[in-house]
Amino acid sequence: MALSSSHHILLLSFLLSCYVPLGLARRHWPVGGSTRFYDFKVQTTRVTKLCKTKDIVTVNGMFPGPIIYAQEDDRIIVKVTNESPHNATIHWHGVRQRLSCWADGPSYITQCPIQAGQSFTYEFTLFQQKGTLFWHAHISWLRATVNGAIVIYPKTSVPYPFPYPYEEHVLIFGEYWHKDMLQLEKEVVASGGGPPPAEAYLINSHPGPRYNCSATDVYKIDVVPGKTYLLRLISASLNMEHFFAIAGHKLTIVEADAEYTKPFTVDRLMITPGQTINVLVKADQPIDRYDMAMGPYMSAQNVTFQNISAIAHFQYTGATLDDLSLPAQLPVYNDNLVVNTNLHMLRSLNATNLPSVIDANLFFTVGLNVEECHSSNPNKSCQGPSGGVFAASMNNVSFVKPNISLLQAYYNNINGLYTDDFPGVPLKTYDFVNGAPNNIPNDTQSLIGTKVKVLEYGSRVQLILQNTGTVTTENHPIHLHGYNFYVVGYGTGNYNPMGAKLNLVDPPYMNTIGVPVGGWAAIRFVADNPGVWFMHCHFDVHLTWGLSMAFIVKNGEGPLETLPHPPADLPRC
Ligand code: C2O
Repeated sequence: MALSSSHHILLLSFLLSCYVPLGLARRHWPVGGSTRFYDFKVQTTRVTKLCKTKDIVTVNGMFPGPIIYAQEDDRIIVKVTNESPHNATIHWHGVRQRLSCWADGPSYITQCPIQAGQSFTYEFTLFQQKGTLFWHAHISWLRATVNGAIVIYPKTSVPYPFPYPYEEHVLIFGEYWHKDMLQLEKEVVASGGGPPPAEAYLINSHPGPRYNCSATDVYKIDVVPGKTYLLRLISASLNMEHFFAIAGHKLTIVEADAEYTKPFTVDRLMITPGQTINVLVKADQPIDRYDMAMGPYMSAQNVTFQNISAIAHFQYTGATLDDLSLPAQLPVYNDNLVVNTNLHMLRSLNATNLPSVIDANLFFTVGLNVEECHSSNPNKSCQGPSGGVFAASMNNVSFVKPNISLLQAYYNNINGLYTDDFPGVPLKTYDFVNGAPNNIPNDTQSLIGTKVKVLEYGSRVQLILQNTGTVTTENHPIHLHGYNFYVVGYGTGNYNPMGAKLNLVDPPYMNTIGVPVGGWAAIRFVADNPGVWFMHCHFDVHLTWGLSMAFIVKNGEGPLETLPHPPADLPRC
């Protein structure tokens, strides 16, 4: 049984499989159900970008970090040793962590941080999962440089549901600041205001020629004319959503968040932090060098952001090298129509676990707040709107992290660290989008607390995520740990249960959904994985401001419905 981890099996698999060097897994597909070991050393690494040198935090000195290659149902064991001076954790984003909540990784939710000099071994099974996911640090803003791909192949001799590509490439999108990320987060929190825009956007850590000093700091994919390529797009960006396009080439989306979709072809797409999208690209254009561009999608008002696109090259063999590359056309930064049209076309290949009967009907608002100066934070200067302090919330509760992990508090019945009164619906009903309180800071405050929502094992949940217009409407990428959810509906304006059209036939099965700006999204999932599961906006600044909550999913009956005891090396608080 894939979920067991008896020592015999471990030892045997260790002898048989061991560490898979990068790139090898593509050519030699090992048998599924094996165990793969990785050694992650969290380190400080010196890099030079945009003519400046700085120390960043990495895994194994690599930026982006090492790729985890595996097959469906494989067991993954990663020993993470923290050789950096900072606290660290790693989250396996999109891994459903069946019965392995202890290995999920969000700091103060499922574990305390791995302290400097300490290590922790994450163990989990990629149970019934295949496709592209990623791992990232889940503490402060370290995710900016501590991230890498997870590539899960189907089991041996199980084909893709699309033509087999000639080659495949991982493209990780990111944002880069000259400042130390921990320092940057501290300064933003202390200011009470918004974050500074990124110095640059990055494709596999390269900004490309439109930035200062970066003419040769360009990522490149060499392509053979006539061949089809699978690009695994991953957004590890911090605070921005992005458009992506390749000059002269179409993108056929075949998978989103490691679930197959009905293939559909677009000229450009939007990807939110936390999302992964697989596209097929056919090299069917005249021999040349083409830009792959990644630029901003900003749906909020009055936010300053980096407007220079990161560029990588899609270069045909035989292209003359002194050629100028052909520029890609991205939508304008606030083109909501492109975003909504793409969302509309996203359909599951098969939607097999979609609940039609609902046990728990939930409605959470997502949006920003402005707190009165000095109301809760005497040490902040108040550079938010109208002399207030920025916050963010779900159902108007700004989440405060406890100082022992919620999972430990829950598992060990430690009282006083959280309350289980997270509201299932907003405490006040109003026109969330257009009539939102906006008399800053008199009526834009949130409640502050560590509140969770408890779900019975197996309950079938529908959750409406509703964006509010407090401060500004904005597309928020909401991510749920431990589950994929069906996105059964979305729309602009306020959710109206009478008028809303739901797709109960082939909705996409995601782990992160960009809730439309000034709109809503309806998601469904079956709460069949016991543990404490974080749900939050995948903009790090909003996460810092409190745009999160946690579900506690209770145990069911048998051993396969019960959370096992914690691993012995779980970091101490
Ligand atoms: Cu990608 Cu809570 O994480």
